[in-house]
Amino acid sequence: MEQTFVMVKPDGVQRGLVGEIVARLERRGLKLVGAKFMQVSQELAAEHYAELKDKPFYPGLIDYITSAPVLAMAWEGKNAVGAVRQTLGATKPSEAAPGSIRHDYGMDVGRNLAHGSDSPENGAREVALWFQPEELVSWERATDAWIF
Ligand code: TYD
Ligand code: MG
Repeated sequence: MEQTFVMVKPDGVQRGLVGEIVARLERRGLKLVGAKFMQVSQELAAEHYAELKDKPFYPGLIDYITSAPVLAMAWEGKNAVGAVRQTLGATKPSEAAPGSIRHDYGMDVGRNLAHGSDSPENGAREVALWFQPEELVSWERATDAWIF
Protein backbone atom coordinates (compact mmCIF):
# COMPACT_ATOMS: atom_id res chain seq x y z
CA MET A 1 0.00 0.00 0.00
CA GLU A 2 1.24 3.46 -0.90
CA GLN A 3 2.75 5.57 1.89
CA THR A 4 3.16 9.33 2.14
CA PHE A 5 4.84 11.68 4.56
CA VAL A 6 2.66 14.37 6.13
CA MET A 7 3.73 17.09 8.52
CA VAL A 8 1.64 19.59 10.45
CA LYS A 9 3.98 22.55 10.12
CA PRO A 10 4.80 25.02 12.94
CA ASP A 11 1.90 27.35 12.09
CA GLY A 12 -0.57 24.44 12.17
CA VAL A 13 0.71 23.45 15.62
CA GLN A 14 0.79 27.03 16.93
CA ARG A 15 -2.74 27.67 15.73
CA GLY A 16 -4.13 24.55 17.37
CA LEU A 17 -5.01 22.81 14.08
CA VAL A 18 -3.26 19.47 14.71
CA GLY A 19 -6.50 17.68 15.52
CA GLU A 20 -8.36 19.26 12.62
CA ILE A 21 -5.71 18.24 10.08
CA VAL A 22 -5.39 14.70 11.46
CA ALA A 23 -9.19 14.37 11.56
CA ARG A 24 -9.55 15.27 7.89
CA LEU A 25 -7.00 12.64 6.84
CA GLU A 26 -8.54 9.99 9.08
CA ARG A 27 -12.04 10.76 7.85
CA ARG A 28 -10.87 10.53 4.25
CA GLY A 29 -9.98 6.88 4.89
CA LEU A 30 -6.21 7.16 5.10
CA LYS A 31 -4.48 5.06 7.77
CA LEU A 32 -1.97 6.52 10.24
CA VAL A 33 1.12 4.30 10.45
CA GLY A 34 3.60 6.61 12.18
CA ALA A 35 3.64 9.86 14.15
CA LYS A 36 5.99 11.91 16.27
CA PHE A 37 5.87 15.42 17.70
CA MET A 38 9.26 17.00 17.34
CA GLN A 39 11.44 20.04 16.89
CA VAL A 40 13.08 19.88 13.43
CA SER A 41 16.87 20.29 13.25
CA GLN A 42 18.59 22.42 10.60
CA GLU A 43 20.10 19.24 9.15
CA LEU A 44 16.78 17.42 8.79
CA ALA A 45 15.09 20.52 7.34
CA ALA A 46 17.88 20.89 4.76
CA GLU A 47 17.68 17.21 3.80
CA HIS A 48 13.89 17.30 3.54
CA TYR A 49 13.85 20.41 1.33
CA ALA A 50 17.09 19.62 -0.59
CA GLU A 51 15.35 19.98 -3.98
CA LEU A 52 14.49 23.62 -3.15
CA LYS A 53 17.89 24.82 -1.91
CA ASP A 54 18.38 27.26 -4.82
CA LYS A 55 14.95 28.89 -4.52
CA PRO A 56 14.74 32.46 -3.19
CA PHE A 57 12.28 31.41 -0.48
CA TYR A 58 14.53 28.57 0.80
CA PRO A 59 16.20 30.41 3.75
CA GLY A 60 12.82 31.60 5.03
CA LEU A 61 11.38 28.12 4.57
CA ILE A 62 14.14 26.56 6.70
CA ASP A 63 13.72 29.25 9.39
CA TYR A 64 9.95 28.63 9.48
CA ILE A 65 10.09 24.84 9.59
CA THR A 66 12.68 24.87 12.41
CA SER A 67 11.00 27.70 14.38
CA ALA A 68 8.60 25.59 16.47
CA PRO A 69 7.54 21.94 16.83
CA VAL A 70 5.85 19.94 14.07
CA LEU A 71 3.83 16.73 13.97
CA ALA A 72 5.57 14.35 11.55
CA MET A 73 3.40 11.51 10.25
CA ALA A 74 3.34 8.59 7.85
CA TRP A 75 -0.04 7.79 6.26
CA GLU A 76 -0.97 4.82 4.13
CA GLY A 77 -3.68 4.05 1.58
CA LYS A 78 -4.51 3.52 -2.07
CA ASN A 79 -3.18 6.62 -3.89
CA ALA A 80 -2.24 8.06 -0.49
CA VAL A 81 0.07 10.69 -2.02
CA GLY A 82 -2.59 12.14 -4.31
CA ALA A 83 -5.32 11.88 -1.71
CA VAL A 84 -3.28 13.85 0.83
CA ARG A 85 -2.30 16.51 -1.72
CA GLN A 86 -5.95 16.94 -2.64
CA THR A 87 -7.03 17.22 0.99
CA LEU A 88 -4.22 19.76 1.63
CA GLY A 89 -5.00 21.84 -1.45
CA ALA A 90 -2.66 23.81 -3.73
CA THR A 91 0.66 25.09 -2.35
CA LYS A 92 -0.59 28.69 -2.36
CA PRO A 93 -3.65 29.03 -0.13
CA SER A 94 -4.96 31.69 -2.54
CA GLU A 95 -5.15 28.99 -5.23
CA ALA A 96 -6.35 26.12 -3.04
CA ALA A 97 -9.82 24.71 -3.62
CA PRO A 98 -12.54 25.63 -1.13
CA GLY A 99 -12.87 22.78 1.36
CA SER A 100 -9.15 22.01 1.31
CA ILE A 101 -7.05 22.57 4.44
CA ARG A 102 -4.88 25.29 2.89
CA HIS A 103 -7.92 27.15 1.61
CA ASP A 104 -9.96 26.80 4.76
CA TYR A 105 -7.20 27.79 7.19
CA GLY A 106 -4.50 29.57 5.18
CA MET A 107 -3.72 32.96 3.66
CA ASP A 108 -0.02 32.83 2.75
CA VAL A 109 2.21 30.39 0.83
CA GLY A 110 4.88 30.71 3.50
CA ARG A 111 2.38 29.65 6.18
CA ASN A 112 0.48 26.85 4.48
CA LEU A 113 -0.05 24.66 7.55
CA ALA A 114 0.93 21.19 6.38
CA HIS A 115 3.20 19.21 4.06
CA GLY A 116 2.40 16.19 1.90
CA SER A 117 4.86 14.29 -0.32
CA ASP A 118 4.47 15.07 -4.03
CA SER A 119 5.04 11.60 -5.56
CA PRO A 120 5.08 7.97 -4.40
CA GLU A 121 8.89 7.99 -4.79
CA ASN A 122 9.22 11.07 -2.59
CA GLY A 123 6.66 9.58 -0.20
CA ALA A 124 8.93 6.56 0.34
CA ARG A 125 12.04 8.79 0.52
CA GLU A 126 10.52 11.17 3.07
CA VAL A 127 8.98 8.44 5.26
CA ALA A 128 12.44 6.80 5.40
CA LEU A 129 14.09 10.17 6.15
CA TRP A 130 11.79 11.06 9.05
CA PHE A 131 11.15 7.61 10.57
CA GLN A 132 13.23 4.66 11.64
CA PRO A 133 11.67 1.38 10.39
CA GLU A 134 10.70 0.40 13.97
CA GLU A 135 8.79 3.67 14.39
CA LEU A 136 6.29 2.63 11.71
CA VAL A 137 3.34 0.51 12.80
CA SER A 138 1.76 -2.10 10.55
CA TRP A 139 -1.80 -2.69 11.72
CA GLU A 140 -5.17 -3.95 10.51
CA ARG A 141 -8.25 -1.77 10.58
CA ALA A 142 -11.59 -3.45 10.90
CA THR A 143 -12.99 -1.00 8.32
CA ASP A 144 -10.35 -1.54 5.59
CA ALA A 145 -12.67 -3.65 3.44
CA TRP A 146 -15.25 -0.86 3.54
CA ILE A 147 -12.79 1.80 2.31
CA PHE A 148 -10.86 0.03 -0.47
P1 TYD B 1 6.73 23.01 -2.80
O1 TYD B 1 7.36 21.67 -2.60
O2 TYD B 1 6.81 23.62 -4.15
O3 TYD B 1 5.17 22.98 -2.37
P2 TYD B 1 4.33 21.84 -1.59
O4 TYD B 1 4.56 22.07 -0.12
O5 TYD B 1 2.90 22.10 -1.97
O6 TYD B 1 4.83 20.52 -2.07
O7 TYD B 1 7.36 24.06 -1.76
C1 TYD B 1 7.63 23.65 -0.43
C2 TYD B 1 7.19 24.75 0.49
O8 TYD B 1 7.94 25.94 0.22
C3 TYD B 1 5.73 25.20 0.33
O9 TYD B 1 4.83 24.37 1.02
C4 TYD B 1 5.78 26.59 0.90
C5 TYD B 1 7.16 27.09 0.52
N1 TYD B 1 7.08 27.98 -0.67
C6 TYD B 1 7.19 29.34 -0.49
O10 TYD B 1 7.35 29.83 0.64
N2 TYD B 1 7.10 30.15 -1.58
C7 TYD B 1 6.90 29.66 -2.83
O11 TYD B 1 6.82 30.46 -3.82
C8 TYD B 1 6.80 28.24 -3.02
C9 TYD B 1 6.57 27.64 -4.38
C10 TYD B 1 6.88 27.44 -1.90
MG1 MG C 1 6.75 19.77 -2.16
